[in-house]
Amino acid sequence: PFSEAEVQSARGAWEKIYVDAEDNGTAVLVRMFTEHPDTKSYFTHFKGMDSAEEMKQSDQVRGHGKRVFTAINDMVQHLDNTEAFLGILNPLGQKHATQLKVDPKNFRIICDIILQMMEEKFGGDCKASFEKVTNEICTHLNNVYK
Ligand code: HEM
Repeated sequence: PFSEAEVQSARGAWEKIYVDAEDNGTAVLVRMFTEHPDTKSYFTHFKGMDSAEEMKQSDQVRGHGKRVFTAINDMVQHLDNTEAFLGILNPLGQKHATQLKVDPKNFRIICDIILQMMEEKFGGDCKASFEKVTNEICTHLNNVYK
């Protein structure tokens, strides 16, 4: 449940980072892999994961960064429709829980990196406008595991 004002400011914040979806999505993943190296264990089929420089050039990392950002963008387009928002989030959560077997603690990690990057690039208001979205995403992804 987002108010109209929250929807508008969250969309405005997200647009700033989403205009460079591939570069920024890749930067989020590279930061996750370097600051939390255990997260690389889910991507053993990705090549060139030994250094940040290699990862930034990797077509696999770049493609995945774009994919993650596209999924979040779909959610952001449906903040005003809980059913549609969860219709995107729940199947994605199911896949991460059952097929990919990702430890749910990692969702908070990646969301915090996105917020941190928003603050660095666009300032504290941008981050603040998007915090409720990442909280909703993390809450629902974690609920899928319960
Ligand atoms: C795959 C989104 C967090 C590991 C995917 C896919 C999407 C996605 C859209 C492709 C799904 C498909 O092919 O059907 C997200 C979003 C996240 C998130 C929106 C959080 C906001 C994470 C985290 C990890 C992770 C924290 C692990 C640390 C994976 C793996 C795949 C995957 C291993 C399969 C990659 C491949 O083989 O190409 N994710 N993800 N995800 N995700 Fe996530």
